[in-house]
Amino acid sequence: MLARLEQLFQNAKTRLGAAEDLEDLNQLRVKMLGRKGEITLLLRGLKDLQAEERARVGKRANEIKAQLEGLIQERAEELQQSQLEKRLKEETIDVTLPGVPLPRGSKHPLTRINEEILQIFTGMGFSVAEGPEVELDYYNFEALNIPKDHSARDMQDSFYIDEDVLLRTHTSPVQVRTMEKMAPRLPVKIVVPGKVYRRDDDATHSPMFQQVEGLLIDRHITFADLKGTLMLFAQEMFGYNVRVRFRPSFFPFTEPSAEMDISCVMCGGSGCRVCSHTGWLEILGSGMVHPNVLRYGGYDPEQVTGFAFGMGVERIAMLKYGINDLRLFFDNDYRFLRQF
Ligand code: DAH
Repeated sequence: MLARLEQLFQNAKTRLGAAEDLEDLNQLRVKMLGRKGEITLLLRGLKDLQAEERARVGKRANEIKAQLEGLIQERAEELQQSQLEKRLKEETIDVTLPGVPLPRGSKHPLTRINEEILQIFTGMGFSVAEGPEVELDYYNFEALNIPKDHSARDMQDSFYIDEDVLLRTHTSPVQVRTMEKMAPRLPVKIVVPGKVYRRDDDATHSPMFQQVEGLLIDRHITFADLKGTLMLFAQEMFGYNVRVRFRPSFFPFTEPSAEMDISCVMCGGSGCRVCSHTGWLEILGSGMVHPNVLRYGGYDPEQVTGFAFGMGVERIAMLKYGINDLRLFFDNDYRFLRQF
């Protein structure tokens, strides 16, 4: 039996050297060492041997099996290496072939407009500030000179978390938040981008929309500064032919207050459907910061003055791109989005 074992071993070694690929090699292993392999079958006869003989043959059988495993492993590595070399020699890559084009995404139109607005104001020396979307009633209303029973709250109904906490209805609360952090340093010169929330939902109102707020506080700031700054903004945003006008308005946190219109971007001011035949489009609210708001923020209204403004990003985007339904921004329809 021992002689037969050695014979099988020799035979296996020869066949190992002849194996041409990993597949061959694997078959060989099964043939020799598998459950029905030649060596395995031979060793079934072990149990019929005398104890002493069985021990001797068994020991040698284990050595042979271990050696074979080692040799198979070695041969496998050799074969892998030579296969790799062969592939490297044979395969060529034409690096001049054009690649597979991957469609490039684009920025969402609201992101673009938002960035454009911020860029115009940072170009005029404003810094970007932010505040929380879940806001205290105090900053959203109270500190903006809108007490609990003020009728101005009616226009800004919101989603309440509890009596004192709500989803902010505008970015104006960041005015007092920033003043508190800055006081008494001057100037306070910020723009505030962010999402705001209201109980509204139609073709021109969404329960969530975005605003950019602006605030400038310093000594000797006048309404002329407000006009100059916002006029330059309108021109940079809509082109240097655009005209602006200011209409008296009311906001509890500014006095006096004004709304700014631009000449209609569709008809140039002659009157069309977009501007309801007035020639003008309202684009933002603004005014001189109310003394009470300055006081809430920690500034002395006898020493400093300021102006503020707030605009809706969706509205500006709709006017700039000629979009008539606000909901298109939120549908995520690729046919719409890819146009920007
Ligand atoms: N917060 C106002 C709104 O959402 C917009 C606004 C008006 C902001 C006048 C201002 C401002 O800072 O001075 O309707």
